[in-house]
Amino acid sequence: MAWKKVTEKNTIAAGKGEEFDVGGKKIAVFNQGGYHALDALCVHQDSSIALGKLDGNIVECPSHFWHYNIKTGELQDYLKGIKLQTYPIEERTDGVYIDL
Ligand code: FES
Repeated sequence: MAWKKVTEKNTIAAGKGEEFDVGGKKIAVFNQGGYHALDALCVHQDSSIALGKLDGNIVECPSHFWHYNIKTGELQDYLKGIKLQTYPIEERTDGVYIDL
């Protein structure tokens, strides 16, 4: 694991997410009561959840509306025990970093 800068501060609006390519992985970063980082690709058909609609800590995949908890990565519907990988994330003076 190594901390990598993903973006500058204040580039992701509150209540929104964005996708970043970090070390060859697609990572979704959400700004929802603090930052949250998890794998961006939905386990259903690999759409990115980064631009999905947020309702509290739950994001809705834009393609077929499966739901994930952005804090735990857990899929909320259909299949039990499925999780997207989550990553430590922190805001520093010079940007937003994740530990990947
Ligand atoms: S690709 Fe996400 S719900 Fe189908």
